[in-house]
Amino acid sequence: MNEILEQLGQMGVIPVIAIDNAADAPKLGRALSAGGLPCAEITFRTPAAAAAIRLMAAECPDVLVGAGTVLTAAQAETAVSHGAKFIVTPGFDEAVVNYCLEQNIPIIPGVMTPTEINMALNKRLTVLKFFPAGAAGGVKTLKAIGGPYGGVKFIPAGGVNPANLADYLRLPQVHACGGSWLAKKQLINEGAFDTITQLASEAAALVRQAAG
Ligand code: 3PG
Repeated sequence: MNEILEQLGQMGVIPVIAIDNAADAPKLGRALSAGGLPCAEITFRTPAAAAAIRLMAAECPDVLVGAGTVLTAAQAETAVSHGAKFIVTPGFDEAVVNYCLEQNIPIIPGVMTPTEINMALNKRLTVLKFFPAGAAGGVKTLKAIGGPYGGVKFIPAGGVNPANLADYLRLPQVHACGGSWLAKKQLINEGAFDTITQLASEAAALVRQAAG
């Protein structure tokens, strides 16, 4: 498996970020890192995404910075040129996938159905985002999907929280989980970086527990 994807698996939780002010990105990166989760999927849900990726990648070299909610190949290109080390998409978009494969950038496309999993497998992608995990049936659905797709690892996102994180992580087909609860936009805007560190550290403890 690609080294970046391996690192995401070791992280256990990928903080999903929507950030309004790019200038907050370095503080956010340091807060997550201090909590033991040196990783961020900065989503293109806000106009600050590209600049935030650039600032966090430049100022927090220990943090694995990727881009999320990437909807077009042009966004993927912007993310990569600003320093993103991996790309996450909510659905399976062939143009984004092809761009990332050509550039040798790890791509984690979103899937929800067996048909979409097949589309990803046809591109030899075996680490896939399962989205929206909770609404799509959560642990129960992932267990059922794991039967025919034994070689696929999933990153459930959408409705993952501290109460269900361990249930997801205990599934052998789960690689890591994505979630926004650790660094909600409001917390970032309020400058509540100590709270973010605390939430990251609690999530990291749950990851260790589930692994042990
Ligand atoms: C994502 O884009 O991965 C999800 O929207 C995160 O979902 P959450 O906000 O329910 O954690």
